Amino acid sequence: MSERTMDESQSIVRIFDTTLRDGEQSPGASMNVEEKIIIARQLEKLGVDVIEAGFAASSEGDFESVERVSKEVKRPMVVSLARAQEGDIKKALKAVEKAKHPGIHIFIATSDIHMKHKLRMSRNEVLDAVIWAVGYARKHIDYIEFSAEDASRSEWEFLVQVFGEAIRAGAKTLNVPDTTGYAIPSEFGKLVQYLIEHTEGSRRVTWSAHCHNDLGLAVANSLAAVANGARQVECTINGIGERAGNTSLEEVVMALKTRKALFGVDTHVVTEQIYPTSRLVSQITGIPIPINKPIVGDNAFAHEAGIHQDGVLKQKLTYEIMTPESVGITGNRLVMGKHSGRHAFSERLTELGFNLNKVDMNRAFLRFKELADKKKEVYDEDIEAIVAEEILRLPSRPDRYELLYLNVNSSSSAIPSATVKMRVDGQECMEHGTGDGVVDACYKVIAKITDSHSKLVRYTVKAITGGTDAQGEVSCLIEDGGVRVSGQGSHTDIIMASALAYINALNKMEYRKHCRELVAKEGP
Ligand code: KIV
Ligand code: ZN
Repeated sequence: MSERTMDESQSIVRIFDTTLRDGEQSPGASMNVEEKIIIARQLEKLGVDVIEAGFAASSEGDFESVERVSKEVKRPMVVSLARAQEGDIKKALKAVEKAKHPGIHIFIATSDIHMKHKLRMSRNEVLDAVIWAVGYARKHIDYIEFSAEDASRSEWEFLVQVFGEAIRAGAKTLNVPDTTGYAIPSEFGKLVQYLIEHTEGSRRVTWSAHCHNDLGLAVANSLAAVANGARQVECTINGIGERAGNTSLEEVVMALKTRKALFGVDTHVVTEQIYPTSRLVSQITGIPIPINKPIVGDNAFAHEAGIHQDGVLKQKLTYEIMTPESVGITGNRLVMGKHSGRHAFSERLTELGFNLNKVDMNRAFLRFKELADKKKEVYDEDIEAIVAEEILRLPSRPDRYELLYLNVNSSSSAIPSATVKMRVDGQECMEHGTGDGVVDACYKVIAKITDSHSKLVRYTVKAITGGTDAQGEVSCLIEDGGVRVSGQGSHTDIIMASALAYINALNKMEYRKHCRELVAKEGP
């Protein structure tokens, strides 16, 4: 165990991050070795205690990832998952051998349903496997975590036996997984308490919780485990993982921090690194962060209601239980809408760098209200445009780019291609090109026509109604020179919707750049 965590007082909850192992089991989340290294470095910066870098025996790629992460990070412990089998344990041992703080994580299922149907083993056979596997690993490595898979659906008395044997054989951490996300907090807390009270040698080891989110209770169950004596929580960044995911690291850490008076524990997490880590994992895995996701979602610190905005501006604690800065979000993003009051509006103008003495506030606020009536959310670029129009007398600009024609070709035997005709500053232009798919081909051709070097940061498609004839709504976020704008497009043809969304974003980018240039030249 890393020197700082094993013997630390009961006041520390260790954070065991399994983004690279259980997180990678999210459908569509696979990462290559280089990407895992980047995430592992960031996890080290974040201050996690343990990184589960993979399941070495499961594939060559996993073996390499565990091996490379082991060489790369210095402070956290690096562990590999292994079944209670010789081949798995050998591979795991080999993969972590270069780690400064190596460990292995052995698991076997203990619920009747898993033992009968999956393992086809009796209880005694499972007990023997635990004794053998932990004992064997202990001859080669100091630190072993043992997990009783599907613990929450296992018989409690049997778990006491299994964990007791694991401790006798040399396990230092005992993990209680709610593998299927079946547990309820009060019950899961009682299970952890029962195990600590009844398992022989339980006070010499660390108890850990590993929860899945099938009922949306992973964080609540993990907190219940901590309240009942667990001192390690296994979690993933953004809660990614198998099915509905795992306990979300950011949520559990911030709950422990925000309610420290209740739990009486700390973690080693540098909470200001939470947001950058969350964005990084989302970018690498391509799994978007829901806008209302606690702690890291776009709306997590955005106050919309007028009364809320006014309260936050007067005293943040009125509606904020933690600050965005404490999780690494710099600047509180107030989403403006029709409920926003004059106070919030003028505050936003100041944040955007406008000199309020030069703005006709009555006119600007009136314009803002008119816009907010038409549009649910008013973004910074809208406000900048209003002010630019008001104080710089900027005439309303027609869109610079317009889509005139789109034709795409795709088949299982041909390279996807697109032909796009657009109007740019009144001139018609047509180009043809190929790509990895039709959307890619189409975006490449549009970028060529508009001479855009913007980066596509996010692309999402949503069906507005059911059925195959549904309108598709595409939203994309592009970035150019540090400026980000989003574009939307909807059409019954997804490719058309994609093209419209991209062109919409490019038009907004042009307009935003234009406003900024004018503001810079003439000064707000
Ligand atoms: O969910 C689970 O039970 C696991 C174990 C391997 C710990 O991921
Ligand atoms: Zn799991």
